[in-house]
Amino acid sequence: MPPEARDSILTGADLAPVDTVRDPRNLFWRKNLANYLVTGAAGFIGRSIASALLAKGETVRGIDSFITGKRANLIGLEGMEFIEGDLADPAACARACAGIEIIFHEAALASVPRSVADPVATNVNCVDATLNLLVAARAAGVRRVIYAGSSSAYGDTPTLPKHEGMIPNPISPYAVAKLAGEHYLRAFTRVYGLETVVLRYFNVFGPYQDPTSHYSGVLAVFCRRMLAGEQPTIFGDGEQSRDFTYIDNVVHANLLAAAAPAEKVSGQMINTATGSRITLNETFRVLRELTGYEGEPAYATGRAGDIRDSLADIRLAGELLGYRPVVDFREGLGRTVAWYKQGEQG
Ligand code: UD1
Repeated sequence: MPPEARDSILTGADLAPVDTVRDPRNLFWRKNLANYLVTGAAGFIGRSIASALLAKGETVRGIDSFITGKRANLIGLEGMEFIEGDLADPAACARACAGIEIIFHEAALASVPRSVADPVATNVNCVDATLNLLVAARAAGVRRVIYAGSSSAYGDTPTLPKHEGMIPNPISPYAVAKLAGEHYLRAFTRVYGLETVVLRYFNVFGPYQDPTSHYSGVLAVFCRRMLAGEQPTIFGDGEQSRDFTYIDNVVHANLLAAAAPAEKVSGQMINTATGSRITLNETFRVLRELTGYEGEPAYATGRAGDIRDSLADIRLAGELLGYRPVVDFREGLGRTVAWYKQGEQG
C-alpha cells in the first residue's frame, strides 16, 4: 500500500465522537473525519450534492481530478474538505474513503459521444474508478455507496416508460461503462455486504452544468448559445425526446437514498427522473421564450450512439424513497436560463 494511503486510513480507535467531528474549532478531526464523501465534487452534479449537504450542516469531503470538473465549481463549497485526486489511482481512493460513512459517487466521464470517440478513457474513468472506489470503501468500513447510474443503460428499446425491471440494452461505450459500475455495486452488496444504491439519472440539467464542451448536455449548450444570440444545432429531426430532470430532483433523490433504511434500498437500482418527456423541437421553443432568441435551429445528421426516446417510470423511487419531483421541467429550465444569464453578465 502506498505510504500516503496507509497514513490516512483510520482505525476504530481513531474515531472521535460526532460532536468533536463537527466542532469547526477542532481542525484535525474536521480534516480527517468527514461523514460524507462526494466524488466528482467539482462537477455539476457532485457540487450540487455537496452544496446541499453543507447547507444541512453536514461534514463533507470532496474529491475531483479536474478532468472535466471545474475549480470554479468549488466556489461556495469552502466548508468542504477537498482532495485533488483521480479515482483511477487506488491510493487516492483510500485517502478519500478514510473515516467516511456514506459516499455519493458522481465522478465519471459523462458523455455518450466522448465514449464513442475514446471508449478506453470512459472505461478507465467510469469502470476502473468505480471498482477502485468500492475496494477502498470496503477497506475503510464505509457503510453505504450511492451511485450515479445512467438511463443510457436502457438503450434503444421502444418500450416507454423505462422501468427498472427491463433488461438493460446499452448501445454506447458510455452506457456499457455506467452499467458495469451498477453491476459492481450490486456484487459488492451481495458478496461483501456493503450497502449500495444505484440511482439511474435521466438527462440531468441545471446551474453549474458546463456548457462549453463539445460533449456538454444539450440544454446547457442551447442555453449558452441562445443567450449569446448564436444558432443552436439539433442533431437529427428534433423529434427525439428526453425525460429532462432538473438538478434539484437529483439532489433530493440522493439525500433520500442516503437516509432510507438499508432493508428497503440496499442493492436496489432506482430511476431518478420526472416521469415526463419533451422533444428537442419543443424544448427549443420553450428556450426561445426564455432566452429571447429569435432565430431557428440548424439541423444536422443524428449522432452515433443516440437513442430516440427516453422516459422514466418513477414509481419505484416513490415506493422505496418517498421520492417525487420537486421542480418541474419548465420551472427548472427558467432557473437554469437565469443562472447562465447571470454568468454572462458577471
Ligand atoms: C445520455 C444519457 C444520459 C447521460 C448523458 C451523459 C441517454 C438516454 N441518456 O444523454 O443518461 O447522463 O448521456 O452525457 O442515453 N443534441 C443536439 N444538439 C446538441 C447536443 C445534443 O441536438 O448540441 C441532441 C443529442 O443528439 C441527443 C439529445 O440532444 O439526441 C440529448 O443529448 P445529450 O444532452 O448529450 O444527452 P443524451 O445523449 O440523451
